[in-house]
Amino acid sequence: MDKVKLIATTNFGLEAVTKRELIELGYENLKVTDGKIEIEGSLKDIAVLNLRLRTAERILILVDRFPATTFEELFDKVYDIDWTYFLREDDNFIIEGRSRKSKLFSISDCQRITEKAIIEKLRTKYNVSWFEKSGPRVRIEVSLLNDVAEITIDTSGDGLHKRGYREVNYKAPLSETIAASLILLSYWNEDRILADPFCGSGTIPIEAAMIGKNVAPGLMRKFDFEKFAFIDPDEFKEEKKKCYQEIDYNKKLSIIASDISHKAIEIARMNSEILGLEEDISFFQKDIRELDLPNDYGVLITNPPYGERIGKKDVDELNRELGKLYKYLDTWSFYIISANEKFEKNFGKKADRNRKLYNGRLRSYYYQYFGPKPYKK
Ligand SMILES: C[S@@+](CC[C@H](N)C(=O)[O-])C[C@H]1O[C@@H](n2cnc3c(N)ncnc32)[C@H](O)[C@@H]1O
Repeated sequence: MDKVKLIATTNFGLEAVTKRELIELGYENLKVTDGKIEIEGSLKDIAVLNLRLRTAERILILVDRFPATTFEELFDKVYDIDWTYFLREDDNFIIEGRSRKSKLFSISDCQRITEKAIIEKLRTKYNVSWFEKSGPRVRIEVSLLNDVAEITIDTSGDGLHKRGYREVNYKAPLSETIAASLILLSYWNEDRILADPFCGSGTIPIEAAMIGKNVAPGLMRKFDFEKFAFIDPDEFKEEKKKCYQEIDYNKKLSIIASDISHKAIEIARMNSEILGLEEDISFFQKDIRELDLPNDYGVLITNPPYGERIGKKDVDELNRELGKLYKYLDTWSFYIISANEKFEKNFGKKADRNRKLYNGRLRSYYYQYFGPKPYKK
C-alpha cells in the first residue's frame, strides 16, 4: 500500500492558509471542506506533513469512506478494511467517534460496532481471544456526517499545535498553529521588523523566528505514527534530517517581543531557549503606553488582552493605545486578532481587511491594516 488519502485538519476559518502551505510544499489536487483538506499522497507524506505544516491541527489517514445507515452496514464495511495491515497484535487501538445529521446517531454504539469489526478482522490473523492493547497508541475515528461514515487513523497523536517548546504558559496563550497562520497571512517577511507588544508566553515571536530561520515546526516533538507497524522509520529519519539541513542558521532577524509582565517575558524567553532562538528575539518588559519602536516599515502582529482577566474598560483603553501607535508608526502594518466587538471603534480605523476565525471556541476577527510597501535601498 503506497498511495493513501490523507486529511489535514485545520482551525475553522484558516483552511486557505493550510492550503497555501500545501501548495508551497508541492501538493496538488487538494479538496477543501470546513476544517479539512484532503490530500492524495503516499505513506512517506505522513512524515513530511507532520513535520513541516505550521498551520494544520492533525494529519489523518482516510482509511475508508462509505454510506452507512445501519449497524450491519457499518460493521461489514469496517470489517472489509485490512486491519491486519494497520495494526499489530499488541497495538493500543482506541476508537473515537462522532456523528452529525445521520441515522446512526449513537456515538457510543458506532464506536462499539467499529471496535467489534476491527477485533473480528484481527482475529483472522492473530490467534488470541483478548487483545491486551499494551503496545503503542493508534487512534482510530469513526465519523458520520449525512449518513456517510469516514474511518480515519490519526497519525499525529497530540495536536500539531503542541510543538514541544511551550513548556510553560503565561495566562491566555494563543495556539501555535493560529499564531503561525496570523504570521503567514501577514505581509511580514524575514527581512522586516516584527513586533508583538502583548507577547505573553511568546507564541507569535517564536513562531515568526521559526518561519524566519526555516525551522520545521515538528522537529521538537513526537508523533504517534513513529511507532505504527506500517511506517518505515528510516523515511521519517530521512525527512527529519532534511528539515535540519534546511534551517537557515545564519539568518539575522529583527523580532521584538514585549509585555507589561516581567513573568511573561521570563517565560517567553525560556520557551525560545528550548528552540535555541533566544538570540533572534529581543525580549523586554514594557507597558504598551511607553513602547518606542523604530518607524521603519515594521509589522506588528498581536493578540491584545480581551477582557476575561482585565476589565472591558481597560481592553478599550489598550485598543485605543494600539490605534495611537498605528498613527504614529505611519510606515508600519498592523495585524490584530481580537474577539472584542468594539475593536475597530476603539482602534479608530476600519481595517483594510478582516477575517473571521476561531481562537479555540472564541469567535474572533483578524483585523489587518496595511502600511506602505517597504522602501528598497
Ligand atoms: C491575550 S495575552 C497574549 C497571549 C500571547 N499571544 C501568548 O501566546 O501567550 C495578552 C497579554 O497582554 C499583556 N498586557 C496587558 N496589559 C498590557 C499593557 N498595558 N502593555 C503591554 N502588555 C500588556 C498581558 O500581560 C498578557 O500577557
